[in-house]
Amino acid sequence: MREKDFPDIAALVLAAGKGTRMKSDTPKVLLPLLGEALLSYPLAAVRGAGLESCGVVFGHGASRVCAFLENAFPEVTGIHQEEQRGTGHAVSVAQDWWKQFRHLLVLPGDLPLLPPEALTSLCREHISRNAACTFLTMRLEDPTGYGRVVEKNGRIRIVEEKDALPEEKAIRDVNSGIYVFDTALLEKELALISPDNAQNEYYLTDVVDRLGATQLPVVMVCWPIPQDLFGVNDPVQLADAERRLRDRILGAWMRRGVRCVDPASVWIGPKVTLAEDLLIEPNVQILGKTHIGAGSRIGTGSVVRDSELGKCCTLVAYVVIQDSRVEGNSRIGPFAFLRDDTTIRDRALVGKFVEIKKSDIGDDAKVPHLSYIGDAHVGAGTNIGAGTITCNYDGVKKNRTIIGDDCFIGSDTMLVAPVELGEGAMTGAGSVITEDVPAGALAIGRARQRNIPGWRARKAGSSENDATEGGKS
Ligand code: UD1
Ligand code: CA
Repeated sequence: MREKDFPDIAALVLAAGKGTRMKSDTPKVLLPLLGEALLSYPLAAVRGAGLESCGVVFGHGASRVCAFLENAFPEVTGIHQEEQRGTGHAVSVAQDWWKQFRHLLVLPGDLPLLPPEALTSLCREHISRNAACTFLTMRLEDPTGYGRVVEKNGRIRIVEEKDALPEEKAIRDVNSGIYVFDTALLEKELALISPDNAQNEYYLTDVVDRLGATQLPVVMVCWPIPQDLFGVNDPVQLADAERRLRDRILGAWMRRGVRCVDPASVWIGPKVTLAEDLLIEPNVQILGKTHIGAGSRIGTGSVVRDSELGKCCTLVAYVVIQDSRVEGNSRIGPFAFLRDDTTIRDRALVGKFVEIKKSDIGDDAKVPHLSYIGDAHVGAGTNIGAGTITCNYDGVKKNRTIIGDDCFIGSDTMLVAPVELGEGAMTGAGSVITEDVPAGALAIGRARQRNIPGWRARKAGSSENDATEGGKS
């Protein structure tokens, strides 16, 4: 579907509810699935269906939902529903926004599995049938909790669980909560509904009933895969939906040539892109806006978020990479942590128990063991000895360490920043480097070793004397 396929249809996502059963301080629609907020899924489906204008009704956790929208979906119009008085009320508080459009798609904000195709087929049906309202239904084994679709003499009503008669409760065709309305008719009928029901709420479903009395038809579209339209209301449903999403996303990548040893333990977010010929080992998470280049191997226990990996990279195992970039043929880990805008250049090696923050590690450089490199530039071909630390923080601010190409940093060097080492410079093991080192120089900054001959024997003798004296007193 291309944008502007439905120029007259705007979308309104209802996301003001509390999500009581989640028992979380985080508003339900902001809880993450595969690293992305729940609300981002229906919004992506709306975008994927080619609907350009979209509004979100928010209420609970208003400031956080609003901040999320501004950051992640700036094109979306937020509408505040201060008090939640039902789905009909939620739609009416947004009326000033949606009345400029000819049709309005209404959907709940808690549908992580909703495919854009469900929305396009609903919209297409609505337009082609010239309907007053078209809504998506599904047939369930267990319809408990949903509004039942009751058809009598050609007139369609939706009866909520709490208002349903026993024979209505047996109906298995239910309302998904996704509708398209003719806005002129919606505006007229919304003004006429009342909260005269078991929940004392303004039901949007009452509008559907009332539209049955107009000239235009009310149309149902039954979606054949009910799971696609499932909402999430508690942590069990959230986990279930996340697994389904995981299988869907990973399955699509595997069909495009990504090999995965244990798909049940691999989690790939919806914004991730993967090249071909990848190997993903068990217990891996790849989330956010991440890309991984062809021929790479993501070792067990690794977590990569909002990062870019080039071709033929190896994350040996247990590597965490955030907001960083790793160029081709690099080898990282096991047990390495790269974060905050770090760049590892071609063929570089980052080894065991190494943390690298906001640094640039040059082509063919090596940081093989037990190091902290922060706010640093490490030149091409440079070798960083085991245990080296950039002392980047003076208690007030962060300072930079600049190490030229082809340097050799002795093991356990403390580089007290700000400090700069010229091309080809060396440091002696155990040095504390506080001053710049010119190109090609060897810097040694440590106490000179002194050997004291016979110390052990003399020390032993003196402690025997101490003991004898102690015994006398
Ligand atoms: C609604 C439908 C029901 C349908 C079901 C599908 C009504 C009366 N019933 O019931 O027929 O089977 O969805 O899931 O519409 N919301 C607001 N503001 C409010 C109230 C709700 O934004 O004042 C939002 C909620 O955050 C939620 C959505 O609207 O995303 C649905 O509301 P909810 O109260 O959960 O409706 P259901 O009881 O599930
Ligand atoms: Ca619900």
